[in-house]
Amino acid sequence: MRIPKPGVEIVSTGRWLPDQVVTNFDLEKELDTSDEWIRERTGIRERRIAPDDVGAAEMGAGAARQAMERAGIHAGEVDVIVVSTATPDRLLPSTACDIQALLGAENAAAYDISAACSGFIYGLTIAEGHLMSGRAEIALVISAEKMSAITDWEDRSTAVLFGDGAGAAVLKRAENGRGLLSSFIRSDGTLAELLWRPAGGAKVPMSTQVLEERSHLVKMAGREVFKAAVRSMAEASDQALLRAGLTGSDIDLLIPHQANIRIIESTARYADVPMDKVYVNVDRYGNMSSAAVPVALDEAIEKGVVGPGSVVLTAAFGAGFTWSGMTIRL
Ligand code: ACO
Repeated sequence: MRIPKPGVEIVSTGRWLPDQVVTNFDLEKELDTSDEWIRERTGIRERRIAPDDVGAAEMGAGAARQAMERAGIHAGEVDVIVVSTATPDRLLPSTACDIQALLGAENAAAYDISAACSGFIYGLTIAEGHLMSGRAEIALVISAEKMSAITDWEDRSTAVLFGDGAGAAVLKRAENGRGLLSSFIRSDGTLAELLWRPAGGAKVPMSTQVLEERSHLVKMAGREVFKAAVRSMAEASDQALLRAGLTGSDIDLLIPHQANIRIIESTARYADVPMDKVYVNVDRYGNMSSAAVPVALDEAIEKGVVGPGSVVLTAAFGAGFTWSGMTIRL
């Protein structure tokens, strides 16, 4: 199969992470858990937690500013801002509009998408549509997640998993054979209740009862989600490779969603990519939902793990369920 000619490229990336580090040993003091359990089951050692007065919009704006600076563009040049977040600062208006205001991106359309951990790859496909149709010249895709705000800190089965952070990318139409080679996005809403926040939205609005039951916070059936994640990440990787006419041996770096080291290892096995070509930072950040992929991509580029011409495979899975895969020539 002929390798597709990319229509849209990632010009630059950026990230924003809170300074505060919370280690497994810190959590041991608050919860009936242990560093050993968390490391063995998830690979996580520590995560970042944002201050109370910093929301998804500030985090996302921080990542976007870094990406724009690296692209050499100013906010007024951005035509569209797509923000993926499971933790909007408020339900109306969107976090994207708050980010648009913080950046001073006065010529940009801005809106949120809700695809949980798959959101960055979903967002890239949406930006690709805007750019390829000619409706936009410059797009910003941002994933900003303050998972600490929706985590039940009394529930050891979920509290140990999540962290806060944001990542961003600037995209333009491709000029030199670099860019998004293939994508695959899917969902299965019949399994929504395996990973969800049961209340606090329009159907079951916030109330004293909701607060007492803590049903506005994340609930997860860990074992079932684990199995679905392994299956879906494998499918997402397979499909992204197939649609690009590539195999695992063509891949310079695999960037899987960073939820659990065991899911990462199984994704690498399915995609036939050796672990020394897999980017892992779940040990340092935990699961930052949709921010995981862009933060990892940004770190990998900054460290020189990948550079211009490298071929990256990325795959993600999250609440919905949603899952997604993409191949990119940087
Ligand atoms: N510390 C100590 N023990 C714990 C803890 C903890 N923090 N949490 C649970 N346990 C106990 C359980 O109570 C259970 O005890 P029991 O056997 O006496 O009943 C035991 O450990 C095993 O629990 P499991 O849930 O079966 O553990 P598992 O090996 O499945 O690991 C985990 C749990 C890490 C959550 C795993 O299932 C997982 O990673 N799931 C997938 C998460 C994921 O990928 N999410 C992606 C999407 S996230 C998003 O979209 C926002």
